Amino acid sequence: MDNRVKICRELVKRILPWYERCARSMPWRMKDPDPYWTLVSEVMLQQTRVETVIPYFQRFIQELPSLADLAAADEEILLKLWEGLGYYSRVRNLQKTARAAVERFGGKLPDTVAELRNLPGIGEYTAGAIGSIAFHLPVPAVDGNVMRVCARLLDCDKDIMDPAFRNEITELLRVVYPENYCSEFTQSLMDLGATVCIPAHPRCSLCPLSEICLGLRSGREAFLPVKKKKMLRKIEKKSVLLLNSAGGKIALRKRPDKGVLAGMWELPWLEGEMPEDLIRKELNAMNVDVLALEYSKKGKHIFTHLEWEMVFWSVRCRNEVPVWTWVTQDELLHNCSLPSAFRKFL
Ligand code: ADE
Repeated sequence: MDNRVKICRELVKRILPWYERCARSMPWRMKDPDPYWTLVSEVMLQQTRVETVIPYFQRFIQELPSLADLAAADEEILLKLWEGLGYYSRVRNLQKTARAAVERFGGKLPDTVAELRNLPGIGEYTAGAIGSIAFHLPVPAVDGNVMRVCARLLDCDKDIMDPAFRNEITELLRVVYPENYCSEFTQSLMDLGATVCIPAHPRCSLCPLSEICLGLRSGREAFLPVKKKKMLRKIEKKSVLLLNSAGGKIALRKRPDKGVLAGMWELPWLEGEMPEDLIRKELNAMNVDVLALEYSKKGKHIFTHLEWEMVFWSVRCRNEVPVWTWVTQDELLHNCSLPSAFRKFL
């Protein structure tokens, strides 16, 4: 038998009792997890930490308790429920999944990986997570945590950004999935990666795999996994305007339907780091009757491939020019989903 399969069988034997003792408590975790809850939590957990996700998850499930509710929800409500979590395309895709599940399966998620994978918005990882966690199928769900655990366990120095590495780990784990503990096994790998086999300074003295970990044995645990240098992000500079009218309203505008933060509200902004006199000139050209213009602060917002460097300006103006949508503070807080890139200015 391939030595790596042998090590992975040992992994299963050791990690399950550890999980029984050390599993973290999460509102979507239970003996028989609800597939819809699993879907929502897994999508929220992509690129977001568990502690951040918990209150969002609870609010989401309270407001939209079923796939059918999600399928029928208004976009503004969805965006409001997601506000602050970032990566807003996730919630739009989540609704596409729900709509397809309502149409094709009468409002239930299907219980095979092939059918799950066929739903829009569900990729290899999410299909594996729902399949194993909620339907107890022997299918791996390989995310960054799982890849780190496996790269160290197997002392593997392949680039984890290379899809070939993920495929290799997926196939290896598929062979050893424990038939009656599929749900627990998937979640145990995630928990071990999140709490013990952490990226920097792994806590090997607490690890149930320390005796079989080849990375630890070779002394390379802290240098694994190997990850190729991140690409450089494009930097965009913006002068962002918080326009307050004499009538006590704030100017917003809708972002374009495509691209970063598609269709979300935003504060109006001008391209580049503009000096005060040029901002005045631009505002005058738009017929904004400026009463006061004041530099406020600088801010940065980082997306996956892009970085916004923002200079925030407060503008008090007499009128409410109709190119923008003017909302009260209360409407802004309760009805509009303003991404955190802008919200941090308020
Ligand atoms: N990260 C992604 N999915 C997770 C889960 N189900 N449990 C813990 N951490 C996770």
